[in-house]
Amino acid sequence: MTTPSNNVDVPMKNPPFIVVEGLDGAGTTTQTRRVAEVLSQKGHAVDISCEPSDGPIGVLIRKMLSMEVAITDESGGLRPVNRETLALLFAADRLHHLEDQVEPSLASGAIAISDRYYHSSLVYQGDVDEDDTVDYGWVRRINERARIPDLTVFLEAPVELCLERLTTRDTREIYESQEKLARLETRYQEVMSFLEEEGQPILRLDASLSMEELTERIVEEVRSISS
Ligand code: TMP
Repeated sequence: MTTPSNNVDVPMKNPPFIVVEGLDGAGTTTQTRRVAEVLSQKGHAVDISCEPSDGPIGVLIRKMLSMEVAITDESGGLRPVNRETLALLFAADRLHHLEDQVEPSLASGAIAISDRYYHSSLVYQGDVDEDDTVDYGWVRRINERARIPDLTVFLEAPVELCLERLTTRDTREIYESQEKLARLETRYQEVMSFLEEEGQPILRLDASLSMEELTERIVEEVRSISS
């Protein structure tokens, strides 16, 4: 997806790969679009994309998340595909997304911004019920070919705020219950902390700030690392 602009977008020598992350309802999609618009107005070439991507695997994943595509069990009921299968599909979609959208954007000199990336897999596919164990290691391994972003923006949002925003949407995906969101929020904190400890650049922002302020803070940071 290319950002529409009336300005002449200037390609860069080393454009950064930016990721926007956060719980469902934290505003990742809104901020991805707004940041791209503002950067474009400022004359930067910018491409935005998302995960699940709009490629063939991403489209299948979205159908699975909304249960339009599901497994029929012995009693004729529907259940989602298991977590491992979904994790592999997300990892495959990610490599396709990188090859098909992110790498060509960066090669053309455009800043590439992705709404979600491997952090979401570590959080959502690493999420488990109480009696299960988290296998972050395996989720990381199947994603090890995915390049490390130059900046990850983490929109930290209280569960209540996310739920409030989600109730205005038409479809509820399989992750959107209060209890689940609360668990995912804890996982996000853990995942971002260990990636930070590894030295991955993460900008944490309070998602309850105004949309304008969030956009301004992100644009400022992206411009500071762009060359
Ligand atoms: P979206 O609502 O931001 O379009 O994302 C769709 C859902 O996909 C969201 O609930 C998070 C989930 N997801 C994963 O479970 N694993 C992943 O790797 C990604 C990228 C998204």
